[in-house]
Amino acid sequence: MKTLKDFNFNDKRVLMRADLDVPIDEKTGEITDDFRLRLAVPTIKHILKKGVKQLIIMGHMDSPEGKVVDNLKMDKVAAKLMLLLGKNVYKTSDCVDINLSSLATEKIILLENLRFHAEEEKNDDEFAKKLASYADVYVNNAFATCHRAHASMHAITKYLPGCIGLQVEKEVENLDISKMQKPIVAILGGAKLKTKIPMIQKMLVQADSVLLAGAMIFTFYSANGLEIGNSLCDNDYITNAKMMLNNEKLILPKDIVIANASLETGIMTVPYDKIPKGVLGLDIGEQSIEQFKSELRGAVTVIWNGPLGYCEKKPFDKATAEIARFMGELKCHKIAGGGDTADIIHKLGYDKNFTFISSGGGASLELLSGKGLVALQALEENGK
Ligand code: 3PG
Repeated sequence: MKTLKDFNFNDKRVLMRADLDVPIDEKTGEITDDFRLRLAVPTIKHILKKGVKQLIIMGHMDSPEGKVVDNLKMDKVAAKLMLLLGKNVYKTSDCVDINLSSLATEKIILLENLRFHAEEEKNDDEFAKKLASYADVYVNNAFATCHRAHASMHAITKYLPGCIGLQVEKEVENLDISKMQKPIVAILGGAKLKTKIPMIQKMLVQADSVLLAGAMIFTFYSANGLEIGNSLCDNDYITNAKMMLNNEKLILPKDIVIANASLETGIMTVPYDKIPKGVLGLDIGEQSIEQFKSELRGAVTVIWNGPLGYCEKKPFDKATAEIARFMGELKCHKIAGGGDTADIIHKLGYDKNFTFISSGGGASLELLSGKGLVALQALEENGK
């Protein structure tokens, strides 16, 4: 895979695809977490230092499905980038039909939200050609979108020579499980088993122990013939769960925090095999937290993906917060992936204590599952 080192950017126009999909406050439209924008800065600075004629940055925010949505315009992103870079960033009113010669004095240009055009998500060749026409070189620094075959990520690689940016380089290096030092302990949470199966399977091969939490554990208990009350269960994946249960690396929590349907009453901890009918399992209990900590103490590498309980509502965020804090203090290689996991670590302020926090949700899941990322495959195949 070509990297920034393989190109001479001097006097060139560079088109950089970045992860600009940042969370915004629905009421004020303000950016609530600029983590992804900060990760774009080193690549932007690197390219600027190489004497480029112009740097054109493009990206998407949310999924406006081909329509212009005021709240999803890139103005706030442009303002934040200006702050982070200490340089002017000119934002265009659309991402296509830009007359660059009329913007000759602008060094950094930010294109409007790519997903205001349905062609972006359709991987449309004509749309990709229009974007490619702005530049001499393409840089993909949008790791979180690398699992999407979208025009600015995939089709575009046919029309411009290109390489990956510094963030994508880092992500690919840090999420390569074959290079991680053993013993590896994977701690995997989240609600839907369906989306996590390939990753759990991969970890059962590559890691030394796999600790499961989050609502997906109820599918495993159910597969074992246990009562799970009204807890979430992916009935279509019971057979997958049964097969994985035979693997002795798999560790399930010993106790569960339950509550009644209102989530306000009946909050108590019960053993995993004593969940009463009618209740919901919402977090793992104290005994499981201790069980997980003792497994984590033996690790040289820890991989964490997914919340351990229903974090959106207190007190069901307790195990996640406690394990995040504990992992922060562990002296080992600590890798965290997945949008929710990264958000939680940032919100709790433990980000500095992790070796690497992936900027990707779906993309990091696919990479950790051992799958290739379509956008990077296209760049490699078409890279000139
Ligand atoms: C993400 O937030 O994971 C990326 O921006 C990709 O977004 P998407 O899931 O809407 O394609």
